[in-house]
Amino acid sequence: MTMSRRELMKLSLAGGVALGLPVQRAFAGEDNLSDRLPDSALPQPYTVPFRRVPALRPVQSDATTDYYRLAMHPVVAEVIAGYRTPMWGYNGLVPGPTIRQRRGRASVVRCVNQLPAEHPTLDYVPWTSLHLHGSASLPQYDGYASDITMPGQWKDYRYPNTQQARTLWYHDHGVHHTAQNVYMGLAGQYHLLDRRERRLPIPKGWYDVALTVGDMMFKQDGSLLFHTDGEDGFYGDVIAVNGRAWPAMRVARRRYRFRILNASVSRAYAWYLSDGTPLQVIGTDGGLMPAPATVDRLPHAPGERYEVVIDFSRYPPGARVELRNKHPRNTTRYRHTDKVMAFDVTDAPFRRRHDQVPSRLRPRTPAMTWREDDSVATRAFDFGRQGGEWAINETTWRDVVDSGFTAVLASPLTDTFEVWELNNLHGGWHHPAHIHFVDLRILSRNGGPPHPHERGAKDVVFLGENESVRVLVGFEGGHGRYMMHCHDLVHEDHDMMAQFEILDPAGDAYDPFDDPPRHDPEDEW
Ligand code: C2O
Ligand code: CU
Repeated sequence: MTMSRRELMKLSLAGGVALGLPVQRAFAGEDNLSDRLPDSALPQPYTVPFRRVPALRPVQSDATTDYYRLAMHPVVAEVIAGYRTPMWGYNGLVPGPTIRQRRGRASVVRCVNQLPAEHPTLDYVPWTSLHLHGSASLPQYDGYASDITMPGQWKDYRYPNTQQARTLWYHDHGVHHTAQNVYMGLAGQYHLLDRRERRLPIPKGWYDVALTVGDMMFKQDGSLLFHTDGEDGFYGDVIAVNGRAWPAMRVARRRYRFRILNASVSRAYAWYLSDGTPLQVIGTDGGLMPAPATVDRLPHAPGERYEVVIDFSRYPPGARVELRNKHPRNTTRYRHTDKVMAFDVTDAPFRRRHDQVPSRLRPRTPAMTWREDDSVATRAFDFGRQGGEWAINETTWRDVVDSGFTAVLASPLTDTFEVWELNNLHGGWHHPAHIHFVDLRILSRNGGPPHPHERGAKDVVFLGENESVRVLVGFEGGHGRYMMHCHDLVHEDHDMMAQFEILDPAGDAYDPFDDPPRHDPEDEW
């Protein structure tokens, strides 16, 4: 593959083909549900130990920047005990290693595509595009779906890390098979840390734990089964946390902070604790909330991040508390999909520092101080069906491709604010609406106030059926074209994704195709 990205782009425009492959091959195949590993072969919940995700060390660092390497290649995982499951990992890990970066230091992440030329069963070429979800990256480093890296190529992504501390995540965004790629394991957490957060007495270090949740389904040979019911969505019968089915975690009698990422393809959850103790939410997509919110049940759609503190000091040693799922509407249930993981309380010694949740966390969270009066425009976006495909304002990514990547749904000015109305005025489906680059604040949900757990900076908005959510969006420091899409990855791929362009008349022009992937193994580090 020696063509440049621009040549490929032209080719796909001219011939109606993607990358010289027949059109039908641009979309991937499906497995047959009849191959499903039966319930009787699935493990009992809470029989395997919880596993923490290792941190990724930089390959190299200088005065301003840390350099990381993420190579994607096949791995054999053991999600359910006794079964070997072929997956794709970053550096051999599923989910990928956690990157922990300090605000103010830049990251360069070299993403190397060492995937096979074809998916083993789903009949597609695993081109990739790395997206750091939650980062205000330049367009060429934002994982633009059509800025693809083919097997054998690599690309360096640059992240400024100038935002406030938050839980981000990196995942694949390759056009038209993001769902399959993420399902195969291409997702990981990225924690941005800062001084203000470090000064708070909230749980840290060992007591600050990443939980990446995804649902899966298996074939009888232990491999993953992927089936979308005619592009409705993917619903697995196994809930995996950090790549293990229904794990049990041993905890000490103190507070823990859990950074929960819903990396599922389609499944939304509503978390609750089995003994009825409320959950204390301290963070949303954009970092710490102004104040904690205490909720009995925490709805959590794909792509969203919530940070939750659980205080295990209230339980005696030997007690078991379960994190459970109250299935939201329009999600497919299986026998054990109401269970997530268990916490086994021990009398192990523990550190007593940073074992509090103050009533004020981060009152000056930028998005939460913006005023609706500062909005310069109001726009509406409808998430719905159009001609048999999922669409936003009747636009699909295919339309964006056909326009030579020029078609945009909105052109806000840099450094301004706008009110966007995100609408799902249809029954039967929910759509987690994700807007790249920005932070946003939920102003109202169906005319009423936002849910308590939504009172923090967000970048994904859960649109339940017949819901309408008004959000205040900030375009600070933006220039260029960014995607917006449904974070149900099956909907995203077929083809509920569009783009907007942040205009900066005085500033530099950036383009998503400005820094194409490379194919020179000798230059690779
Ligand atoms: Cu996490 Cu465009 O996505
Ligand atoms: Cu959707």
